[in-house]
Amino acid sequence: MKIIITENTEAFDSEGALFFTRQVLKKPDTTFGIATGDTTYNIYALAARLHKELAVDYSHSKTCNLDEYVGVSAKDKWSCRFRIDEVLLEKINIKPENTYVPNGLCDPPERELSIFKEKIESFGGIDLLILGIGVNGHIGFNEPGTLFDSGFHIAPISAETRTAKAALFGGPEKVPKFGISMGIRDIMMAREILLVAKGRSKAEAIRSIVHGPMTTDVPASVVRVHPNLVILIDKDAASLLQKN
Ligand code: GLP
Repeated sequence: MKIIITENTEAFDSEGALFFTRQVLKKPDTTFGIATGDTTYNIYALAARLHKELAVDYSHSKTCNLDEYVGVSAKDKWSCRFRIDEVLLEKINIKPENTYVPNGLCDPPERELSIFKEKIESFGGIDLLILGIGVNGHIGFNEPGTLFDSGFHIAPISAETRTAKAALFGGPEKVPKFGISMGIRDIMMAREILLVAKGRSKAEAIRSIVHGPMTTDVPASVVRVHPNLVILIDKDAASLLQKN
């Protein structure tokens, strides 16, 4: 596990964007796994800027989102599809057919699960997964209590997570109650993980990843066994780490 701690959020965003960009320069046909959320938003915005300024080529790359809210359409501005299109995918030269976000309107939602699985397989698996984390240590929509060997599933979104997402949706009651998500097993299959977190509210979850114990109460604690894990955090998210 490698840990990068930045002084402030500006440095955090630019470290994240450089990491993302270096990956496509190193392996032009990279399949990226994509978490959306406030933490990653500026990282993608800066990566899109680097694409423009340095002519970074994404024409051979693919992206696959980690999750989507059930019941939202790609036109809803709070959907993962809308946000990732707006901040990244419409700004780089990636082919639309090489991008995938689970369809939040699939009816029944369970039907989307096999499509999700097949899409990742057809993309050759995930080379680099950009992974956010919830205040309660959730990853994707794998909330506390989710088994470490869970696969793609429809996941209940906890009250705590709905409160954390209230601003985006205009109130906790407007946040969908279910998400379509990669399971923890699928997350762990990524060849490399860049886990990103900023702010004091994420410090306890980061402490659990770095110092343990590994427990399904904090789903993210499992990533510490991943053989190729980089944790990018700002000083506040690092504030509960032991100094040595
Ligand atoms: C959500 C998403 C995750 C995201 C996480 C953190 O619930 N399902 O994919 O990474 O929360 O979001 P934020 O960065 O907005 O704190």
